[in-house]
Amino acid sequence: MDYEALIRAALAAKKHAYIPYSQFPVGAALLTKTGKIYTGCNVEIGSLGLTLCAERTAIVKAVSEGEREFTAICCVADTEDYCRPCGACRQFIAEFGLDIQVIMANKEGKYETAKLSQLLPKTFQFSKE
Ligand code: THU
Repeated sequence: MDYEALIRAALAAKKHAYIPYSQFPVGAALLTKTGKIYTGCNVEIGSLGLTLCAERTAIVKAVSEGEREFTAICCVADTEDYCRPCGACRQFIAEFGLDIQVIMANKEGKYETAKLSQLLPKTFQFSKE
């Protein structure tokens, strides 16, 4: 699978990051099973704990447009190291599939990948049983 388009979309979305507090821009791009890409950036507010990460922004945008099936998500920051999704975002991605491929990129567009199931093993799943 060629993830170049997804990484480019995440890098472009990073430019929209609203980051008055951390100055740490993150971009994300989510690939649907039908090949569409939804992007997101982090959005910070003064009540810092309510900050929304880039990955969750992208997922909420896609789901609110009727999408439910995703094959991959990319996240990228302005860092040498690969940008890896935080724990909250891992749980959020897991909601839509442990099989989703996570593309963790750096500012140059280099990346490593892992399945969500590798990033969040023994995942919590809601069950009333
Ligand atoms: N951030 C993300 O957008 N995604 C992550 O997976 C981890 C962190 C954002 C939140 C905050 O705006 C900034 O990075 C610094 O934590």
